[in-house]
Amino acid sequence: MTTAEHSDVLVFFGATGDLARKMIFPALYGMVVADELHVPVVGVAFSEWGLDDLQRRARESVEAAVPDADPTALDTLVGLLRYVDGDYRDPATFDALREAVGDAHRPVHYLAIPPVMFATVIEGLARAGLNTDARVVVEKPFGRDLASAQELDAVVRRAFPEESVFRIDHYLGKEEIMNLLYFRFANGFLEPVWNRNHIASVQITIAEDFGVQGRGSFYESAGALRDVLENHMLQIVALLAMEPPAYQGYGAVHEAKANVFRAIRPLTRNDIVRGQFEGYRDEPGVARGSDVETYAAVRLFIDSWRWAGVPWYLRTGKNLPVTAHEVVVEYKKPPQALFDDAMMAQHPNHLRFRLKPDGEIALGARVKTPGEEFVGEQRELVASTEGAAARQPYERLLGDAIQGDRALFTSEDSVEAAWRVVDAILTDHAPAIRYAPGTWGPTEADTLIGADGPWHDPTVPDSDGRK
Ligand code: BG6
Repeated sequence: MTTAEHSDVLVFFGATGDLARKMIFPALYGMVVADELHVPVVGVAFSEWGLDDLQRRARESVEAAVPDADPTALDTLVGLLRYVDGDYRDPATFDALREAVGDAHRPVHYLAIPPVMFATVIEGLARAGLNTDARVVVEKPFGRDLASAQELDAVVRRAFPEESVFRIDHYLGKEEIMNLLYFRFANGFLEPVWNRNHIASVQITIAEDFGVQGRGSFYESAGALRDVLENHMLQIVALLAMEPPAYQGYGAVHEAKANVFRAIRPLTRNDIVRGQFEGYRDEPGVARGSDVETYAAVRLFIDSWRWAGVPWYLRTGKNLPVTAHEVVVEYKKPPQALFDDAMMAQHPNHLRFRLKPDGEIALGARVKTPGEEFVGEQRELVASTEGAAARQPYERLLGDAIQGDRALFTSEDSVEAAWRVVDAILTDHAPAIRYAPGTWGPTEADTLIGADGPWHDPTVPDSDGRK
């Protein structure tokens, strides 16, 4: 099968689960509305459900996500559904799936299931011959560390060739993330100043003002490092730090990104501050003595010509003061203080990319305040993007998987190289430091950023975040 052939059935494991309810059914509905879903959708789960139950779940989940859902589109989606119930360890489940798939001969299998079940399902598919001419879509996290990612890859690759494997990181399907790549390489003015000669440091913040939202037991096996930093945040680093792709085509982008991961100096215990919000240990599914981090801040270096000596500061956490995802690229000061401007910021120039709640790109600069004195103030030139019409990441990514377009998926090379960056600190780290919900996490993170700080505050969007 060539990668460009359209799949003729979408099979999704974990059909009765949380991800399906919150994300997948609304995404499938969006695809119907966009006239992009024309294949049967076979849900698989082990829940003692029937097709009626799944159809009801689909309706409920779409109506919760899209209050003014179009009834005709919803009927169309429900009409496309089939259902197979059974234990993933039982070959009979896959025999039943074979029947449900019917005449289709290019299935795409989407594993919206806990990672511990990946190998079982992939082996079940292969045993039933359902891997022939098929694609497989694997949800993140791909493994728990470098060794388990390699083991998982070996299992996947016994059943599917690399070009049929689609590793989802939903961040890559976000408009604002795609705009990082576009903005960097669609504009010529940036390249001359996009390097160690001009950039002092880079900060990336993924802050969320909510806790673990009932996902305590998942979080216990993940923590902020595995849940967000190793994947979403390093993907952002790669898009910002990569060299221009060597040729046109997604393969070149994948290679350029993998090279960034390879050039990042592996993190050690002095590069990370871990935090845990007060009350985390009382969450259902969380161990009373848990040391899992709900906050992580790291300092990393990319050992390449472009980035040598430029520190990158990344922080992410639950129960912080605000939900905001932002990148701030701090430029070096002018070489001489020509003006007697006592208020002159340490870094008067920055480029700020807001990725959530909406897309915004801003250039920070000093502008003279009217009057006799040559003193100024910090201003931003802002370009906002219209986010409202953008498609949800899962809509885009599942559509791409059905069509065999791998551009927005992660390659195995990248996955392993990204794990190599964090592998040591997954186990070698100081205990998580408690922080009060609604604060910016442990104050030790201020020591980590030191003179390159303070951390940018996304709640002060019209300045460079400095008080
Ligand atoms: C998910 C993490 O991958 O990304 C969550 O498991 C996190 O913990 C989420 O909240 C953030 O993504 P988004 O798209 O909701 O900003």
